[in-house]
Amino acid sequence: MTASGSICLWRTEALIDVATTIHPSAIVDAGAVLGEDCRVWHFVHISAKARIGAHCSFGQNVFVGNDVMIGSNVRVQNNVSIYDAVTLEDDVFCGPSMVFTNVYNPRAAVSRKDEYRRTQVRRGATLGANCTIVCGTTIGRYAFVGAGAVINRDVPDFALMVGVPARQIGWMSRHGERLALPLGGDGEASCPATGERYQLRAGVCVLAEENR
Ligand SMILES: CC(C)(COP(=O)(O)OP(=O)(O)OC[C@H]1O[C@@H](n2cnc3c(N)ncnc32)[C@H](O)[C@@H]1OP(=O)(O)O)[C@@H](O)C(=O)NCCC(=O)NCCS
Repeated sequence: MTASGSICLWRTEALIDVATTIHPSAIVDAGAVLGEDCRVWHFVHISAKARIGAHCSFGQNVFVGNDVMIGSNVRVQNNVSIYDAVTLEDDVFCGPSMVFTNVYNPRAAVSRKDEYRRTQVRRGATLGANCTIVCGTTIGRYAFVGAGAVINRDVPDFALMVGVPARQIGWMSRHGERLALPLGGDGEASCPATGERYQLRAGVCVLAEENR
């Protein structure tokens, strides 16, 4: 099959769209599913039960576990491991060497495979280089986690988080620009790049067009 959007059986019997590119050094286990137009770079390992949408890219040395769902247009930079119990929605950006976790209180001598805590990264969120996401958290839509931050609580939609532990210092637009809004209360602001309008109501930020 050659048409874009069709599915083919590839060398490892994973289901991979013909329009997807996989470097010869990458390992895609039998049973993995990748959508169209993905890019899989050097030394990537994708596990058998991973489910991945279209137009995603996986940089050098990325690992994708079995109990992992990844939407479309997700960018995973070099040296990121996406462990079991992690879900990435569409348009998520994982910066280089950022870290997911799935066991909250690991001990080498205690098996906690039945105790994984799920991490959900919602649409459009950015996880900056070298940040750490403590498991059991939800990162809101279009939230922005700064480089090196440690997330150990749920993050609201559009929130800009930095530091260890991460604290909210502002709000980011869908385009990744700071919004002139207070951290709490009410307000209105536009994205300086796109002009999109945002509303803050009782400390909750929404895109104005979604709030009509
Ligand atoms: C968050 C970020 C976008 C900067 O946003 P900004 O609105 O320009 O923020 P500013 O630089 O004005 O900083 C505001 C404050 O937050 C602090 N800050 C900014 N980024 C920070 C970070 N990652 N960690 C800790 N503090 C940070 C600044 O020091 C400043 O503190 P101050 O008010 O006490 O001086 C940027 O620092 C960042 O982390 N980008 C991610 C880069 C990345 O990971 N890219 C991956 C692909 S290569």
